[in-house]
Amino acid sequence: MCGIVGGVSLEPISQYIIDGLKSLEYRGYDSAGIALSMDGRIELSRVKGRVDKLAQVLPQNLIATTGVGHTRWATHGEPSEINAHPQPSMHQQFTVVHNGVIDNYRSLKKRLENRGFQFLSETDTEVISNLLEFEYAQTGNVMQSIKNVMRQLVGSYALAILFDSDEEHLYFAKNRSPLVIGKGRDGMYLASDYIPMLAKAKEFVTITDHQYGYITHNDVVIYHDEQNTPLQISFHQTELVSEDIQLIGYPHYMLKEIEESTDVIRRLIDNYFDGNQYIFDALIIEKIKAARNIVFLACGTSYHACLIGRRYFRDQGKNCEVHIASEWAFYPYIADQDSIFIIVSQSGETADLIHCMEIINERGATVITITNTKGSTLDRAADHTLLLFAGIEIAVASTKAYIAQVALFALIAGAIAGTTNTVSDLVQIIKVQKEIIKKRDSLIPHAQFISKNSDVYFLGRGYDYDVARECSLKLKEITYIHSEAFPGGELKHGPIALIEKGTPVIGFVSDPMTADPIRSNFQEVCARGADVLIISSKSLARTGDQIVLPDVQLYLTPLIKVMIGQYLAYFAALELGYNIDKPRNLAKSVTVE
Ligand code: G6P
Repeated sequence: MCGIVGGVSLEPISQYIIDGLKSLEYRGYDSAGIALSMDGRIELSRVKGRVDKLAQVLPQNLIATTGVGHTRWATHGEPSEINAHPQPSMHQQFTVVHNGVIDNYRSLKKRLENRGFQFLSETDTEVISNLLEFEYAQTGNVMQSIKNVMRQLVGSYALAILFDSDEEHLYFAKNRSPLVIGKGRDGMYLASDYIPMLAKAKEFVTITDHQYGYITHNDVVIYHDEQNTPLQISFHQTELVSEDIQLIGYPHYMLKEIEESTDVIRRLIDNYFDGNQYIFDALIIEKIKAARNIVFLACGTSYHACLIGRRYFRDQGKNCEVHIASEWAFYPYIADQDSIFIIVSQSGETADLIHCMEIINERGATVITITNTKGSTLDRAADHTLLLFAGIEIAVASTKAYIAQVALFALIAGAIAGTTNTVSDLVQIIKVQKEIIKKRDSLIPHAQFISKNSDVYFLGRGYDYDVARECSLKLKEITYIHSEAFPGGELKHGPIALIEKGTPVIGFVSDPMTADPIRSNFQEVCARGADVLIISSKSLARTGDQIVLPDVQLYLTPLIKVMIGQYLAYFAALELGYNIDKPRNLAKSVTVE
């Protein structure tokens, strides 16, 4: 969602900030802004729309070496120049960028208005700027003012704060929204994730909740809001490198990421299997083995991956549930102390999951986070973490992360069952994926047909139904075509009413047990005029099936079928001319509830 990029440098900083904001575009945003501290004043530029537009309105040849930029995904107030960040305080003493949501901003705003503060925007962020200005009038000390403000804010925030015309310092504060500091050769930088800083910094500090402080061009000072002495700082490195965020010849990140799936599975095997045995943290496997109830919590694509994970764990005799995080967070249920929660999140920063994590931690149950992002909030807050090793995912529509999640669930289930067959089954998957990649262009005519429709339905049973839900999500995310997935058996209980002449239906056949009933479902929709595109496994294929895939172990078919769904969505969006990597209204990392 929103992105923050800033720093205090020895070199002019505006181009670095613009480039950094561009590197965060994948997170989703609808306005952008930058504040530079120079010549004893703040140069503020904001636009509704893209960072390119911001770069155009920015005065040329700016020599400012201190500044901060922001991409905003509107929550409080429509996307507009006035609501874009940075948000100055009433007398321009403080200039603030903010990721997160302040829950009590209305009451704080009222109090400030009663004290004579006037507001120009509809944002909760302007409340923070004005509150800082109010506190500074009482204390005359910036750090004390930030601390006092933090005590009054309820909600989530990563803040970067410029004070007056002070070019030496860029202040920050954090609670429940990510913030990282990077140490470069020519300055100190901060951002909402590592990516914008990769070009400048090699060493990093992750700011944790309730911390605040400042950076100068060669120093970082961090306090906890309940302590009076600065914290000891230790820098760490990241395995991310700037090449990870290059397109390397691909037209879109989504295509690149679909085709990185083979590397993803290989890396997972290498990280969790030493050639003879699994090398998971033994404690994690013991805890899962001992657990009576396993509860998966996730959102979006990760939720769909968990539907497959649930089948694997049930096969191991576990009582296993999957919940959408935003539902569970408000209706939490923990059966007993032997329940284990598995929180699954590509980004590790999804606000609904952070909410769930807080509830589980309060109640003392064990949490395992499965994430692609080491050092993320959900990684740090869990009892145990298993990393996905999928490499950075830039396209908003998640592809390789789903594949990594399903493959990791398979490996964990293999470790619980004590069978290494899972590893050879996954190696077979890599081979089949490579074949699919080679023949991907054969899917284009099907995608072109799909792109001409306004409603597309998916049908499947069992594993195929689970994967159909993910394929349907991909399609709606990037083509804006209305799509739903139904279990074949439910067709007669409602969905068949939607079928008329020419309705496109995409059907999966992977399971010998349900092959006949799902074929009957295809007949039922065909009889009502549907155009059915059948994707079957070779041994179950029949004449007329349009896409026939090599046979693999049934439990791993989702890893193959999902690629077909991803490609169909990709090529359909390409045909429609949409912005594939940055679909409208969506954000890569949903950091507000
Ligand atoms: C957003 C993204 C999806 C993602 C979901 C969950 O909706 O657009 O691609 O699946 O968040 O994200 P997470 O990082 O928690 O897996």
